[in-house]
Amino acid sequence: MTATKVHTAVFSPTGTTRKLVSALAQSLSAEAPAVVHDLTYPPGMDETVVSGDHIAVIGVPVYAGRVAPLAAQRLKRFRGQKTPAVVVVVYGNREFEDALVELRDMAEWLSFEVIAGCSFIGEHSFSSTDSPIAQARPDAADLVIAREFGMKIAQLIQSEPTRREHLHLPGNVPYLAATPTIPFTPKVDEEICTLCGACQPLCPGGAIAITDAVSIDVENCIHCCACIKICPVDAVSIHAPPLLEKKHWLHENCSTRKEPQLFI
Ligand SMILES: Cc1cc2nc3c(=O)[nH]c(=O)nc-3n(C[C@H](O)[C@H](O)[C@H](O)COP(=O)(O)O)c2cc1C
Repeated sequence: MTATKVHTAVFSPTGTTRKLVSALAQSLSAEAPAVVHDLTYPPGMDETVVSGDHIAVIGVPVYAGRVAPLAAQRLKRFRGQKTPAVVVVVYGNREFEDALVELRDMAEWLSFEVIAGCSFIGEHSFSSTDSPIAQARPDAADLVIAREFGMKIAQLIQSEPTRREHLHLPGNVPYLAATPTIPFTPKVDEEICTLCGACQPLCPGGAIAITDAVSIDVENCIHCCACIKICPVDAVSIHAPPLLEKKHWLHENCSTRKEPQLFI
């Protein structure tokens, strides 16, 4: 079997997952550029069914050892027809725990047949210049690994399309219990904010409103930090003490470089 067309489904508030999925998908098929289904921004995506003779690459970030909840919710509109799929989880150099098996199970429930999986490292959402965590990942070396993995999967599809029963992915079922969300939003410093509006369209939860000030709705904020990373004048920051503690803990304890893991 030769999969002719590649479809990617990606949720990526701060862009690391998007970069890796795109690198992997590029080398998966030389036929045509991948069809990109971006689940990151509201309202998400239209219902999509990917034909069984195509191939899907599904990528999400890891939040608390699981698939980021909003990604899980939006992924429900992306369906296969026994379509071969590669599952990709991207995490901030701590751990990915049960996210990869959770994403595999979701993909199979959506009628994809998972033939390969991988975990990659992306700059942690909470990373900042004064407290870096996996800063600037994925880097060039990560992207080479993603591209080479894409090529290897392309060869596998041609030679052994039904090899998926050999696939073992790390992680446990039942998955880690979901951690309760801390009710906070990033803080906007009104003295610095220029009301430029750059943050608003990049908020996956649609939580940002701009009037004569920027306000962030606690119910819809998923703590992805996209607003912090995009702000051109550094007016937005993590301020809530439990999150600041977490950020500093990650900086202190998760600085040893981890490498991508590939499963085929
Ligand atoms: C709420 C939240 C929870 C996170 N939990 C984890 C985690 O359990 N393990 C980890 O290593 N990184 C964790 N991260 C970091 C992200 O997985 C990482 O930064 C990823 O690269 C973000 O992907 P994106 O750039 O596509 O948004 C978390 C980030 C956020 C915002």
